[in-house]
Amino acid sequence: MCGIIGYAGSIRAAPILTQGLTNMEYRGYDSAGVGIHDGRQISIKKDTGKIDEIKERLGIDSLNGNIGIAHTRWATHGKVSQVNAHPHTSCESKVTVVHNGIIDNYQKLRINLETAGHLFISDTDSEVIAHLIEDNFKSSGDYRSSIIAACEVLEGSFAFVVIFKDNADTIFGVRKDAPLILGIGKNENFIASDILAFIKKTDEVIFLENFELVEVSKDSYQIMSLSGEQKIRESVKVAWEASDISRKDFSHFTLKEIHEQQNTIRQSLNQNTNILNDFCDILGNSNKIYIVASGTSLHAGFIAKQLLARVVKIPSEVVIASEFISYADLIDSDSVILAISQSGETADVLDAIRTAKGRRGKIISIVNTPGSSLTRESDQVLFLNCGPEIGVAATKSFTSQLAIIYQLVLILSGRTQDIAELTNISNLVPELLSKEEEVSKICDTFASNTDFYFVGRGLNFTIALEGALKLKELAYVHAEGLAAGELKHGTLALIEEGTPVIVLNPDDETYYETLNNASEMKARGAKIIGISNKPNPIYDYHLQIPTVDRIFYPILEVIILQFLAYYGAISRHHNPDYPRNLAKSVTVK
Ligand code: G6P
Repeated sequence: MCGIIGYAGSIRAAPILTQGLTNMEYRGYDSAGVGIHDGRQISIKKDTGKIDEIKERLGIDSLNGNIGIAHTRWATHGKVSQVNAHPHTSCESKVTVVHNGIIDNYQKLRINLETAGHLFISDTDSEVIAHLIEDNFKSSGDYRSSIIAACEVLEGSFAFVVIFKDNADTIFGVRKDAPLILGIGKNENFIASDILAFIKKTDEVIFLENFELVEVSKDSYQIMSLSGEQKIRESVKVAWEASDISRKDFSHFTLKEIHEQQNTIRQSLNQNTNILNDFCDILGNSNKIYIVASGTSLHAGFIAKQLLARVVKIPSEVVIASEFISYADLIDSDSVILAISQSGETADVLDAIRTAKGRRGKIISIVNTPGSSLTRESDQVLFLNCGPEIGVAATKSFTSQLAIIYQLVLILSGRTQDIAELTNISNLVPELLSKEEEVSKICDTFASNTDFYFVGRGLNFTIALEGALKLKELAYVHAEGLAAGELKHGTLALIEEGTPVIVLNPDDETYYETLNNASEMKARGAKIIGISNKPNPIYDYHLQIPTVDRIFYPILEVIILQFLAYYGAISRHHNPDYPRNLAKSVTVK
């Protein structure tokens, strides 16, 4: 979703800002723009489309000026258009702003400002910020207090960066419920929503807290609360493989990330024993465990719930993060909230844990992004250690989430002798990667089909959900994941001659029942793509997976399904890295 970056330095800002935007492309966007201060005035260049094209078309990189702000927009209020792209400026062009988040009360503020004579040119909620600050600046003549006064009336979530026409040296940033990070360089400083925006320039950062304002020039910065009190904050080094954001020889980040899984699964298992034990103590001593997540991470949550029930024999609930409020009244000081998130910035997840915290629930999280809001607001964190995930659709982060969940479950159930088999799972990844060509041919065969069904039982049912989600995200086809036993209760009516059905059927206790369901569908014309370690003539196509302990099949099956989604997109000529309408980091509710 929207990405913002501000730069104050001693060299031209424009190329640094456009590179920063490119590094944040993965978040998902539909338009982009920059505002550069050349010492006299602020030039704004913005448009819809891809950053590279906009940059060329508008000649952005040749703009002069050593401070500036930039933005990638993922439309929420107002259609995708040049005028709605950021930066936004005020009536007298004295204030220029880029914003991430949603201003809930923008309609009311806009009416008030219009009544006071302000002229709006966009349909966005963000434009009110520029007008509000300009209004305040006129009366106070003070940069900081004009921003603080604006924050006092803004409702909703925001992180924004502002520059003033009358101040050619300084950028200001402020946040509430949306991420904002200060990057400290030599003779240059940054403010951005994402470390990746500036990681090639500096790895020294300060993660701003809610309601903090930062004032940044090329060689200094000051952080203060919105009540004006100065804050002394230590910077930290991001010791992450964060700079590894190249595609290498792969045609897409998504493909590269699928291929990385042998290493990433292994890295995820490399955890600090004390933290692992702490997690296990917290989970093992609670009978009120709520697992909270969204999207693919939610599917990892379902696996966790099933394994906690079947292997550890403890109950837990999985709650879709955006639905958490319905369960809020159940939370008390005995409750444990296990939040799972790749980005650590998903607004619904953050909202859920903040609600739970307000009710004295304990928050433990499994997160990929160091320094993200979720990590800072949790009582204990396990990191995925799988490096930045750039492809919008989660791939390697999911198998890393599973690896950590397995590790916890094995410790909790006293099955520590099985950790060796878990560790060995990563060595089986090449066997799955060797199926790439086979999967791509199957995808070509079904390139004109528009409905796909994924079925499985038990843990494999959850992987059916994940396979269907992946295919929808990347190939833009209708796909449904189902518990195989539920087919007869409705969906079987949709099966007709040639309907592709992906059957997740490892040789476990569900094998024969699932096979029967496959036969029922085949009898009605379905083409069965069986993913199993055990071949069967019922399968029209069989993708062989290695034999492992029954609880570990999900982590293997899903790699095949990731290929299926990837090549589903390729066979339909879609770019799998940037699926339409979707964002990697969903920072609005
Ligand atoms: C978006 C992404 C998904 C991801 C979901 C949850 O929808 O496109 O890939 O699974 O957000 O994100 P999180 O960062 O919380 O895991």
